[in-house]
Amino acid sequence: MKYILIGAGSRGMTYGSLAGKNGDRIAAIAEIRPDRLKAAGEALDVPENMRFTDTADLFALGKIADAAIIATMDRDHYGHVMQALHCGYDILLEKPISPSARECLEIESKANALGRKITVCHVLRYTAFWGKLKQIIDSGELGKIVAIKHSENIGSWHMAHSFVRGNWRNDQLSSPIIMQKSCHDLDILLWLTDSPCTRAAAFGALTYFKESNAPAGAAARCLDCPAAENCRFDARKVYLPTLGGWPADVVCLEQTEAALTEALRTGPYGRCIYHCDNNVCDHMSMILEFESGVTATFSLTAQTNGIHRDIHIMCENGEIEADDGQREITVRRFAPNGYESFEERTIHIRTNASGHGGGDAGIMEDFTASLSAGAETRSSISRSVESHLMACALEESRLTGQVIDMEDFRKKLLSE
Ligand SMILES: NC(=O)c1ccc[n+]([C@@H]2O[C@H](COP(=O)([O-])OP(=O)(O)OC[C@H]3O[C@@H](n4cnc5c(N)ncnc54)[C@H](O)[C@@H]3O)[C@@H](O)[C@H]2O)c1
Repeated sequence: MKYILIGAGSRGMTYGSLAGKNGDRIAAIAEIRPDRLKAAGEALDVPENMRFTDTADLFALGKIADAAIIATMDRDHYGHVMQALHCGYDILLEKPISPSARECLEIESKANALGRKITVCHVLRYTAFWGKLKQIIDSGELGKIVAIKHSENIGSWHMAHSFVRGNWRNDQLSSPIIMQKSCHDLDILLWLTDSPCTRAAAFGALTYFKESNAPAGAAARCLDCPAAENCRFDARKVYLPTLGGWPADVVCLEQTEAALTEALRTGPYGRCIYHCDNNVCDHMSMILEFESGVTATFSLTAQTNGIHRDIHIMCENGEIEADDGQREITVRRFAPNGYESFEERTIHIRTNASGHGGGDAGIMEDFTASLSAGAETRSSISRSVESHLMACALEESRLTGQVIDMEDFRKKLLSE
């Protein structure tokens, strides 16, 4: 298979490299930053005349590959997807489809009208952990799902990196955090329940990562800050020990101590986490109701040490407690009374797979296979749009204090 790659940043390079490993290749790249374009072109072995800083020049060639990989930033997806559809490409699209519910619907309708496949990178569906959970539920061994408690634990330093200093700090520059971070979780809830969401409500705010919590005398940048020594967010403590890997490799291309220190002196990742232009929530608590009658609570929180998701699924005849950080799934059948022993087993998901627990490689393989077989991937654009509409509805609920009826929400969008 041949792909064109739009956006050769962190995610684009992940998929570009995976394509190479599978024996496929990247035929052309569009990347706005010349330094990244050069590095990506060399790493992915793309001829110089097939490297473009302007996507329009690449799309002007028409359809020159089997599919497009679109991994630009959230607010650029709509324009790039529409151009790629116009050229006749099937698309592997990074999430979110778009921060705008209306643009999501337009993309869905255009792709379906043209008969084009868009696979949104909901990579969790492709991990051994979430796949196993889905298999247990679908086996019916515990009966139907009745209720779910789900938590996404972002991790304090990870929040500071991505959602305070980083690309996704401000909903006007990217997306609200419920869309940006948690469209994955909403997609997983839809997948597990296999039922559309009917009503949604949310509470949440940005409570900690703001100016009023800055230590006395804190400077705008860590390298100038008299309070840095006692601050766990001191950019040197976060990034220097990770030189050569994530997240230091997001800060600058050249992975040397000198280049990294210079990037912290001048770039966005050296800013004081209490003095950034961030506005996305650092905690949200939500309630969801599904057509099947399942109810779910969902908590999204930055104030955790670990970066993991945990879920408690309550079924008719038993329950499942699972944690993707521990890679453990405990399945328990209910006992007849409080004295007798009950049946319980714990499944340990043994995988060393990196890249979202194997999800990055899994989605790339599934997408490639679907192109050659002309089949659907594990999720269609329409299923992915559902989770995005849920995210938009939850954000609306948070801002207005209303419980959102999903059918009314969709009808209103379609009539505007
Ligand atoms: N599936 C996941 O779990 C997951 C994880 C992280 C990020 N993402 C998503 O992936 C997307 C990219 O994130 P990233 O971390 O790779 O960001 P990034 O900043 O590393 O990469 C984006 C790249 O797009 C380039 N770009 C910007 N405008 C462009 C244009 N007009 N034409 C061509 N290139 C352009 C940028 O220069 C940059 O290199 C985001 O939408 C993000 O939400 C998904």
